Amino acid sequence: MLQVILRKQGYVVEEAANGSEALQKALAGGFDFILSDIRMPVMDGPEFLRQASDAGVSATIIMMSAYGTVDTAIECMKLGAYDYISKPFKNDEILLVLKKAEERQRLAAENRRLKEEMHREFSFASIISRNPRMGEIFSLVEKVSEYKTTVLVLGESGTGKELVARAIHYNSGRRNAEFVAVNCGAIPESLLESELFGHVRGAFTDASADKAGLFEQADGGTLFLDEIGEMPLSLQTKILRVLQEGEIRRVGETTPKKVDVRVISATSKDLEHEVRGGGFREDLFFRLNVFSIKLPPLRERLEDIPLLVAHFLGKYGDKFGRPGVECAPQVVKEFMKYTWPGNVRELENAIERGLILCEGDLLTMDCLPDGIRNVHTVRYLPADSLSIKQAGEMLERDFIRRALEKTGGNRTHAAKLLEISHRALLYKLKEYGME
Ligand SMILES: Nc1ncnc2c1ncn2[C@@H]1O[C@H](COP(=O)(O)OP(=O)(O)OP(=O)(O)O)[C@@H](O)[C@H]1O
Ligand SMILES: [Mg+2]
Repeated sequence: MLQVILRKQGYVVEEAANGSEALQKALAGGFDFILSDIRMPVMDGPEFLRQASDAGVSATIIMMSAYGTVDTAIECMKLGAYDYISKPFKNDEILLVLKKAEERQRLAAENRRLKEEMHREFSFASIISRNPRMGEIFSLVEKVSEYKTTVLVLGESGTGKELVARAIHYNSGRRNAEFVAVNCGAIPESLLESELFGHVRGAFTDASADKAGLFEQADGGTLFLDEIGEMPLSLQTKILRVLQEGEIRRVGETTPKKVDVRVISATSKDLEHEVRGGGFREDLFFRLNVFSIKLPPLRERLEDIPLLVAHFLGKYGDKFGRPGVECAPQVVKEFMKYTWPGNVRELENAIERGLILCEGDLLTMDCLPDGIRNVHTVRYLPADSLSIKQAGEMLERDFIRRALEKTGGNRTHAAKLLEISHRALLYKLKEYGME
């Protein structure tokens, strides 16, 4: 009878006369659901369930029990059955249970897929680079992931600080607990404390109920304190206390509470400078700086530009339903000359915008923001050098190169653009080895 009902609904059904026959079929695989009686010859329902689960049968098993065996049915659920149906049953009843079980399987599969996707997205695989300094950073990240050490991620805006913080979390044993990110500069000082530590009801006018803070939300996982340089001094003391004692106190509460949180912080500011100026507590700086990772700006890893361009073209190509769009070679060339003050984020935005503006399958210079098209900045300036002589030289080289490009190599015209004499230009070309 079940066969008839189920086949009518489009299910593919196979039968087994008893538990032992069912087990053989189930082990051969391919079943989503198994409906099993409890009393059967040779091998009964509970025994079938036990053996099936020992053998790792993954089908969802639903038991059917006649009146009086409900207790056994419940026992079966403890053994891993998904549900039970009492006999006699109505057709709709059985179909409903199956529909529910299907939905559950679908959700479980979806959940698994999303988790895997997230792990993939935030593991190293998503950090694109072939720069040797970045390679060193990857191995540092790998080593430090497993420990609860606080990590300070440094680097200019858009260099991938948050990406690295996530990679540390998803590479650690904490990956199944939460990664909670908070931008300390974006939350008003008056709210930040209760945001981080939570509050109890009545702690202040708007506190109408108890509320857990981000530290508690990240319990067992990782809290990412972005723009830590913006943390008000009053709260710096409290953060230091959490790091030292491993406990937090909700606003308005007197007893502390244990939390197990790994803290990763990031800043694009020069924190040591802040410490010297009194804007950042020295003891907190040392505590956060136990292990620091400094991301190089994009202009110091030009070899990554073509890789990143391809990566973002793929990403936004998929997103906008425009696969196969390519970048004109001229564009990549210009990209290599640009200084990228906004680093990878700026490059990503340029590609995203370019894809929207360009019509064909080729991304050309006219689809890109003005700033990138008209390069007016000098690159390769060593960040730690203050030498005017060196900077002047770089500037001269850069301007001469551009003047010559513009005049197609005509030195007389180039000298005019540069507002120097023809002789001075020849002299500089020689001096800089640019002939
Ligand atoms: N190496 C990389 N490979 C792929 N994508 C990257 C890489 N570095 C950065 N990105 C992307 O660039 C964007 C900026 O990265 P992220 O937010 O991690 O930078 P950030 O240093 O935190 O920036 P900010 O200081 O502005 O907050 C993100 O969309 C990120 O996915
Ligand atoms: Mg960031």
